[in-house]
Amino acid sequence: MPQCATAALPRDGSRGQNIVPTPVKINLINMLAETGLQVIEATSFVSPKWVPQMADHTEVMQGINKLPGISYPVLTPNLKGFQAAVAAGAKEVSIFGAASELFTKKNINCSIEESLERFDEVMTAAKAASIPVRGYVSCVLGCPYEGKISAAKVAEVSKKMYSMGCYEISLGDTIGIGTPGSMKEMLTAVMKEVPVGALAVHCHDTYGQALANILVALQMGVSVVDASVAGLGGCPYAQGASGNVATEDLVYMLNGLGIHTGVDLQKLMDTGTYICNALNRRTNSKVSQASCRL
Ligand code: HMG
Ligand code: MG
Repeated sequence: MPQCATAALPRDGSRGQNIVPTPVKINLINMLAETGLQVIEATSFVSPKWVPQMADHTEVMQGINKLPGISYPVLTPNLKGFQAAVAAGAKEVSIFGAASELFTKKNINCSIEESLERFDEVMTAAKAASIPVRGYVSCVLGCPYEGKISAAKVAEVSKKMYSMGCYEISLGDTIGIGTPGSMKEMLTAVMKEVPVGALAVHCHDTYGQALANILVALQMGVSVVDASVAGLGGCPYAQGASGNVATEDLVYMLNGLGIHTGVDLQKLMDTGTYICNALNRRTNSKVSQASCRL
C-alpha cells in the first residue's frame, strides 16, 4: 500500500447551527498542525450572507501559525472569493462543483455549466499567481435533491475540472449515502477519465459506511482521503447529513493496514476532545468513544 495523505477539514467541521468563535477555530487549526497532518483545510471565502459561519475567514487565515511543510487550503467558489483568499495569505485554494444540477443551484446558486465558467476564471487567476487548485465534486454517490446520480455524470464533471488544471479531484459523498458497491462503480467510471493518482475521496458518514467506502477506494489505488476531527461538520445545503469520517477513526484504520500517515493518534484524539469541549458536543469518533483499550 502506498503512503496515504490525510487531509483534515476544520472547515467542514466548523459549521452547524452555532457560530464557532474565531479563537477556537484558530486553536483547533494550530493543534491539528501539531499532530503530523500535512493538509489542513482552514476556512471558506464564501458569501457571509450565505454561510455566516465562515464570515471570519480573513481573521482565521491571519491568526493561525502557518507551519512549514503544512498546506492550509481554503474554499473559493468564484473570483471574488479567490482574490479575498489570496489577500488573506492563502497559498492553495479549492473550487467546489457537483455532479448534480439541483445541488449546484442550492449550494453556489448557478448551473453546473455556469459553475465551470466561474471556476475557469479562478483557474486563470490561480495560474498567474502560481497557486495550486484542488477541485471538489459533490454528490458523487447521491444528491439530497435529485436522488441517484449516475457514475457517468460524476466522471464527466470530474474530467472537466481535472482538464481545467485542478491537480486533484476530491470526490464527495456529501450525504454519506454510498456503499462499497456504489463507491466501486463510481470510481471505476471516474478512473477512466482521471488518473487515480489525482483522485481523493471525501466521505460523510451519515449511513455509517464511510470507512468501508474508503477501504474500497484505497484498494482501488486512491491514496488521499479527507476527514474531519471528531467527525464534526456536514454541509449547510445537505440537511441531515452528518460530518466527514472522523480523522481519528481513519488514522486508526490506516495504522491497522500498515499505511504510514505520520499522524500522532493521541494528539489527534486530544484535539478532538478540545473541540468537542469547546462546542459542548459529543465526539463522533468511535476510536475516541472506545473505553476498551489493548
Ligand atoms: P450569489 O448570491 O449568486 O453571488 O452567491 P453573486 O455573484 O450574485 O453576488 C451576490 C452578493 O454576494 C454580492 O454582494 C457579492 O459581492 C457577494 P452584494 O452586492 O449583494 O453586497 N459575493 C461574495 N461575498 C463574499 N465572498 C464571495 C462572494 N461572491 C459573491 N466569494 C456564492 C454565489 C457562491 C457566493 C454563494 O452561493 C455562496 O457563498 N455559497 C456558499 C456555499 C458553501 O459554502 N457551501 C458549503 C461548502 S461546499 C461543501 O461543504 C461540500 C464539500 O465539503 C464536499 C462534499 O461534502 O461533497 C466541499
Ligand atoms: Mg463535505
